[in-house]
Parts: sequence; C-alpha cells; structure tokens
Amino acid sequence: MKTEDKLLLRALRGETLPVPPIWMMRQAGRYLPEYKATRAQAGDFLSLCYNPDLATEVTLQPIRRFGFDAAILFADILLVPQALGADLWFVTGEGPRLSTVTTPADFAKLGSAKDIHETLSPIYQTIRNLRESLPADVPLIGFAGSPWTVATYMIAGQGTPDQGPAHALMKENTALFEKLIDLITEATIQYLSKQVEAGAEVVKLFDSWAGSLDGLSYAKYCIRPTAKIVSRLRERWPDLAIIGFPRGAAPDGYAAYAKHTEVDGLAIGGEMDAAWAVENLQPFVCVQGNLDQTLLVEGGPRLVSETKRIVKAFSGGPHIFNLGHGITPDADPDNVKRMIDAVREG
Ligand code: CP3
Repeated sequence: MKTEDKLLLRALRGETLPVPPIWMMRQAGRYLPEYKATRAQAGDFLSLCYNPDLATEVTLQPIRRFGFDAAILFADILLVPQALGADLWFVTGEGPRLSTVTTPADFAKLGSAKDIHETLSPIYQTIRNLRESLPADVPLIGFAGSPWTVATYMIAGQGTPDQGPAHALMKENTALFEKLIDLITEATIQYLSKQVEAGAEVVKLFDSWAGSLDGLSYAKYCIRPTAKIVSRLRERWPDLAIIGFPRGAAPDGYAAYAKHTEVDGLAIGGEMDAAWAVENLQPFVCVQGNLDQTLLVEGGPRLVSETKRIVKAFSGGPHIFNLGHGITPDADPDNVKRMIDAVREG
C-alpha cells in the first residue's frame, strides 16, 4: 500500500474518516510483558534503543498484539544530546541523567550537528528493518524532541518539575541559551532527515515542556524552532506529514502553533477541552488525542464512555485517536484492547 493511502496519512491530509486511526504514545513499553522480556534481553533501555533487531521487535509488539494503525520508532528524544556528546544514562525508577550544559565551556565540548549520525546509525537501521517488516497498511512514525524540551534536559541534566534551570539560563545567559537551541534545532533537522531517508513516513515533534513557556518565550523557543524544522524538512519533502505536540500549552498557544509551524497534525493533552479543540483547531489541522491515559489503569465503564465521547466529539473532522500522554507501566493491556474495541465499534 502506498504511504498516502494509509489511514493515518489520510487523516493527516485532512480527511474525515468513519473510524479514526488509532495508536498510543509509548505503545511499546513496560505495560507489556513481551516488552519487559525483550528489554531484559537487551540489558538496559539504551542498549535496547541502539540494538536494531531488538528495537524493531519491541516496535512491532503492540502492532501484533493490538493491530494499531501506526507504529512509532522505538528510540528516545535524549539520543540527540547523546549524539552531540553529552553523557546520558538512565537511573531505574528515576529517569534520565545527562552531563549538564550551563557554561560556554560545557557548550564548547559539544560536537556539531552534522556529526551525530555515527552514534545514531543504529536508529536508521531500525527504521529500515521496520519498513521491511511492518504490515503493508501500517505507517511508521519517526520522531524527535523539540529543541526547548531537549534543552531543558541538557541544561538541568535530568527531568525537572518546572524546568527551572533552563529558565534560569534563558534569563541569565540568553546568548548561550539561544546557541544551544540553535544547535539542537540543526541536529534535529539532520536527525529527522536521515529518519525520512531511511523510511519514516510521518514525523512527530515532542515538546513535552512547552507548557512552561509564556507568550514571548513560547513564540521564540517553541514555535520558531519548530517552524524552522518543519520548513527545512519540507524543502526536501514538500508532502512530508508532520505532527506537533506542544504539551501543556494554553489553548491559544496551540492555535498559534498550528498556524505558524504548519504542522499537519496537532497532538493535544488530556487537559484540553474537546469542544474547544473541535471548534478552534480541527478546522485547520488533524487533531490527535486526548484520552486521559490513567483510564487505561482504571478501566471499567468510564474507559469506554470517555473513549466514545472523544470519538464522537471529533467525528466531524480529521482525527487520530490517541492518549493525552504516554501509557504508564501500571496500565492493563486488556484495557488497551477494550479502548480499541470501543473506538472501532463506533
Ligand atoms: O512512544 C513510543 O512507544 C516510542 C518511543 C519513545 C520513548 N520515549 C521510549 C521510552 C518516545 C517517543 C519517547 C519520547 C520521550 N522520551 C519524551 C517525550 C514524550 C513524553 O513522554 O513527554 C521524553 C520527555 C523522553 C525522555 C524520557 N525517556 C524520560 C523522561 C524517561 C523516563 C521516564 C519513564 O517513563 O521511564 C524515558 C524512558 C523511556 N523512553 C522509556 C520508554 C519505553 C521507559 C524505559 C524503560 O524501559 O525503562
């Protein structure tokens, strides 16, 4: 099947479909016993990301088990800082740790955007494997973190509740902060270009911490770098389908993002009011989301009623059914099946 005929691409092109295509953020993850088994075989999370055979296997697991309408490359947004020369490791039960970038000397130790590909070549191999092994009607989504979100981890050296260290650098050494944003932007263009060359059919930009930027900083550090990435990719691939996720942004921030970045799809969090999104976003872009991911832990009648409410709310325009954020390790795979059945039975 040609890429443009696959359901996800049809929705991203603006078509209103009788049943929305479905996939889930973090669909390959710790809620699946088969994922845990493959991860144990790899040793740790990063070894899994850099092992093309095993990364291909975990990407395929949720497709086999549930028949999702899209696969997402198994990797992580923090591989880009690592390829730029930052140290990266994961502390079990806590999350990522990186060497920090807060001074000109730290920045000078980073490599250039063109030199990331040697480290990232196993990821491109995973994409080539997936294009060989995915079912003919299932498109492959590639992805990267957006510059602001990646910068928050590079500056703090870990996840932070309020992105305080990144805000402090933005204020105290704006020039250095902007050099870092520019470097990540350029590396992201390089990385996503290689993903598309290798076979990614859609790309998604995760700006998980967009919600902590205010009006001006949101325009400068969320919208502007994203618009640059989109326009540089479209110079080479004018029809490339792109999804953006400025998680936690204010509703009018979402609308501005859609308008100025020219993404085809907008992923919305669980906090966004569906009726507002239908009226203010869906006329311009395909909307993806916004089921509360905790319902996949809770299950029961509310899972089914909320799933159906969202399907119905967005049924008059282009929609991709998804969660508001990634599925959590304590979710029950049987609830995922119930959710999919509730979407597909209408
Ligand atoms: O969605 C998918 O199935 C594709 C793979 C994917 C992962 N991370 C795998 C992963 C994607 C698209 C990401 C994106 C990502 N990574 C984001 C943006 C989306 C979001 O969640 O807001 C961010 C901020 C990261 C950074 C990151 N990676 C953190 C903070 C953590 C630790 C938290 C956690 O959930 O454990 C990770 C680890 C991670 N990335 C796991 C997976 C499956 C869990 C690793 C494990 O097996 O222990």
